[in-house]
Amino acid sequence: VVSARFLRHHNDSLQPMLLLLIAMSGWSGPVPCLHQRGARLARLLLSEAPVPFADVWVIQRLKDGGVRVASQSLNFREVDEYMVVPRSVASPGIGLALEEVGSQGDVGLVLVKGIVAGGNAAKASVPFMPGDALISVRDSAGTVEVSLEGATYDSTVEALSSLDPSLGELIFTVRRLERQPTVTVRVQFEDREDERLTMLPGQPLRQTILARGIKLNDPLALRFDSGGPGDCGGEGCCCTCAVQVVSGLEMLNDQKAQERQMLRKHPDWRLGCRARITEGLEEDGELVVRASPRSWNSRELLDGVEECDIPS
Ligand code: FES
Repeated sequence: VVSARFLRHHNDSLQPMLLLLIAMSGWSGPVPCLHQRGARLARLLLSEAPVPFADVWVIQRLKDGGVRVASQSLNFREVDEYMVVPRSVASPGIGLALEEVGSQGDVGLVLVKGIVAGGNAAKASVPFMPGDALISVRDSAGTVEVSLEGATYDSTVEALSSLDPSLGELIFTVRRLERQPTVTVRVQFEDREDERLTMLPGQPLRQTILARGIKLNDPLALRFDSGGPGDCGGEGCCCTCAVQVVSGLEMLNDQKAQERQMLRKHPDWRLGCRARITEGLEEDGELVVRASPRSWNSRELLDGVEECDIPS
């Protein structure tokens, strides 16, 4: 795993960085000295701002020997974007400033540091953003495709520079980090104060609540196999972890057949060990659940409604 712990600063190497920017932006005149550079370029080069997300990205080594640029934080998810960048023989530059924020051997973590104003990357179909990771690039005809995922700074620059401008427009695949939406979960108890916690898409309800020291083991629930108290340890077959969803049912994943069958008389109940915050949530939300719903619904139970049917 390579992370931003290997941060490499370029503050002491402005001239090589300038050369890269010129190459990448399609500069066709003589290479200027630092004092001759344009003010816009100078502002970009001399920026002390760190590359965004440098400490969130990580390079995973895969079993097949490959690498994958990924988020190492549950708070950020990865989204792949496809950008068409205009390019021609008359305007061969790309116009991206890159920075290697980590490296280990022949593997590197190279991120977009800036976009040259007026350059071809600035005209991309989807805007590049500082902190983006370059994954691959190809021409629109599909004759050339180069993987940039996990490439070092030198390899990335070499690969981009070797793309013949006569190929025309380039299509970049760029991996970007987006803040995960969060769900505020309120757990209501009949005999004590509510508990609040924040959950992320994909997180399991019972385990996350348990990690906060809150048990969902309803003392009124009896195991179907032994007839006694105690839970099945999250196997989805005892019903002791059931909660009643007061609001925000849509924040949870869909029920599978067995859970639906077990709770068919309580469509607003979920098994804590089978419920998780739904993936692909687009915005923040709220979920309110009641722990030990048998206590809250005692009158209903007394009226003869079965609490939970375990399929045989
Ligand atoms: S812990 Fe047994 S069904 Fe959830």
